[in-house]
Amino acid sequence: MGKKIKLGVLFGGRSAEHEVSIQSARNIVEALDKDKYEVVLIGIDHAGQWYLNDASRFLLDSSNALPAFEVQNEDTVALVPRGGSRDLVRTSDNADLGSVDVVFPVLHGPYGEDGAVQGMLKLFDVQFVGGDVLGSAVGMDKDVMKRLLRDAGIAIGDYRTVLRHKRGEVSFEQVKEELGLPVFVKPANLGSSVGISKAETEEAYEAALDEAFNYDTKVVVEAFIEGREIEVAVLGNEEPIASVPGEVTPHHDFYSYEAKYIDEKGAGLKIPANLTEEQVRQVRDLAIESFLVLCCEGMGRVDFFLTPEGIFVMNEINTIPGFTRISMYPKLFEASGISYAELIDRLVKLAIARHERQQGLKTRR
Ligand SMILES: Nc1ncnc2c1ncn2[C@@H]1O[C@H](COP(=O)(O)OP(=O)(O)O)[C@@H](O)[C@H]1O
Ligand SMILES: [Mg+2]
Repeated sequence: MGKKIKLGVLFGGRSAEHEVSIQSARNIVEALDKDKYEVVLIGIDHAGQWYLNDASRFLLDSSNALPAFEVQNEDTVALVPRGGSRDLVRTSDNADLGSVDVVFPVLHGPYGEDGAVQGMLKLFDVQFVGGDVLGSAVGMDKDVMKRLLRDAGIAIGDYRTVLRHKRGEVSFEQVKEELGLPVFVKPANLGSSVGISKAETEEAYEAALDEAFNYDTKVVVEAFIEGREIEVAVLGNEEPIASVPGEVTPHHDFYSYEAKYIDEKGAGLKIPANLTEEQVRQVRDLAIESFLVLCCEGMGRVDFFLTPEGIFVMNEINTIPGFTRISMYPKLFEASGISYAELIDRLVKLAIARHERQQGLKTRR
């Protein structure tokens, strides 16, 4: 038995998806092979402060469906690169609290999934799970993501971008003419359906913009797409693999935050999705192509609409998908023959492989 890998699990975080992240982290910690990994739990509060969290207490407290991260002691910690290792230190007195080998940022949304944390870890030369800076940033931004997909000839829905300081330039009448009704209004950089509304009237459209601009200064307004929601999980770096496709059937008006996390019967998951062999082949290829076009690495859940005409329209990618036991990403791989624990193993290996690849590059002439 080799030396255990010290896996730093970063959870919580500064985004509106803080609570979801806690749920994902909890499941990952529970599933980890404790013979292979030593878990170092690092909780980030809404203000962005880091705290060391003790795993046993964290797990004991798993009754609450959507818990908030509770600070268990007042000592904040920081990661510092020094003397060849990446150490955690107590910020008050620089006391050494041990090191980490690989970090798994189990953070959803801005600051965690958008390249920000990835950039910090990269600067500190820490190996980390999931996409690199660019893929994370691109995958988070629904506007930039769509432009890259369009450039690659992958089908996307009609949309337009509205910047907060130019809001007056995009009237309801214009949107109605260009995109038809209803429209979906979304913060460009967020997830879990936070800040998303469907709007049919001018009043609802303006209210939807107000709501979305609470979360981002850039908003996308999308044409409504009628279709089944088909999702594919992707795993790998240069040569990723795709899972079997799954289907989400929201029982609400759309797959809202409530349908995802609050209402237990908010949505049905069908794995594998009921598709023809040809459709399965097509959507898996499209998922891998999208993943590569968007410069992603490690993992990604690629979500499509399947229209009544039989076209797969790419909706979005999640570079740190939900990771609870009942989440689509791990379930899709389970149905494809990769267990939850093995999935985490593979993700850690991919993180190490990428780091080695990057280490091999010259940084001087
Ligand atoms: N253009 C659209 N047409 C129809 N339904 C949509 C559209 N965009 C989003 N939805 C619905 O809203 C949900 C959340 O939107 P999505 O783009 O996936 O945002 P998030 O990143 O928050 O998950 C989707 O799962 C779907 O149910
Ligand atoms: Mg989504």
